[in-house]
Amino acid sequence: MGDKTIKTALVTGAGQGLGASMAEHAARHGFRVGVLDLDKNNAEAVAGRIDGIPLAADVTDADAVEAALDTLGQAPDLLINNAGILRTGPLMEHSVDNFRLVVDVNLNSVFVVAQAAARRMKDNGGGTIINMASINAINPSTLCGAYATAKAGVICLTRQMAMEWGEFKIRVNSIAPGFIDSGMSEPFYKDARIRELRGNAVPLKRLGSADDIAETAMFLASDAAAYISGENITVDGGVIHSVLMQLPRE
Ligand SMILES: NC(=O)c1ccc[n+]([C@@H]2O[C@H](COP(=O)([O-])OP(=O)(O)OC[C@H]3O[C@@H](n4cnc5c(N)ncnc54)[C@H](O)[C@@H]3O)[C@@H](O)[C@H]2O)c1
Repeated sequence: MGDKTIKTALVTGAGQGLGASMAEHAARHGFRVGVLDLDKNNAEAVAGRIDGIPLAADVTDADAVEAALDTLGQAPDLLINNAGILRTGPLMEHSVDNFRLVVDVNLNSVFVVAQAAARRMKDNGGGTIINMASINAINPSTLCGAYATAKAGVICLTRQMAMEWGEFKIRVNSIAPGFIDSGMSEPFYKDARIRELRGNAVPLKRLGSADDIAETAMFLASDAAAYISGENITVDGGVIHSVLMQLPRE
C-alpha cells in the first residue's frame, strides 16, 4: 500500500486551471498527487510536471472513479473535488439535457467521488475533502441558473457529508471562488475592458488568481484547519457583500 509517511492527494479536474494549480500546490506541500481529468493528455502533462499519478476518468462515472482510486493505490488523505463545467443560458431556454449535464458534472460527481474516497479514508483513519463551489451558489447571476443551482447543492452536500463523516475523522469543507482570472473564466477576462470593470467592482480592486484559491485549499487541507468542518469559505475579495454599496443613491 505504499509509504504511509507520504500523504496522498486526489485532485479532480486537475488537467488545467484551478485544479492544475491546486495539484501543483499539493505536490509542493509534500503530497503524492493523483491528477484526475477527463482529458488524458492534460492529466499526463500536469502529473509529469509534479511527479504525480495521471488518472484519466469521468467524475460522473462511478466505475471509472473506483478504478482511478484503485490505481492511486492508497486511500487519499486529501480529496479536492474540483472538476466542473459551465453551460450558460437563460432558464427559459436552457435545454433539459444541458441542465442535467451541469448538475451531473458539478454536483452529482461530488457525491460519486467523495463517497468512493471517504470509504477508503474511513478505513485509513480519516482524511480531508474540499469541494469547489462558486459565489454563484450564494448569489444568482445572469445566465448561470443551472450552474448556480448545482453549486448551491455542493455547499449543502458539503455540510451533510461533514455531519455524517466527522465521526470517521473526515473533515469536509467547500470553497466558493469569485471572479478568478484562470481556468473557465480566463477567456472572459481576455477582454481588457471587462477585466477592468470586474476588477474595480471588487472591494479589493482586483480579480482573483488560481494561487488565491490554491492557498485557501492548502490551508483547509492543513492541520491549521483541524477543527474546521462543514464550512464554505468564500474567496472573492469581498465582492458578494458589495451589492448594497453599488445601489444608485439619487
Ligand atoms: N475559474 C473561475 O472563475 C471559477 C469560479 C468559481 C468556481 N470555479 C470552479 O472551480 C472549478 C475549476 O474550474 P476551472 O476554472 O479551473 O475550470 P476549467 O474548465 O479550466 O477546468 C475544469 C477541468 O475539469 C475537467 N472536467 C470537466 N468535466 C469533467 C468530468 N466529467 N470528469 C473529469 N474531469 C472533468 C476539465 O477537463 C478541466 O480540465 C470548477 O468546479 C468551477 O466551477 C471556477
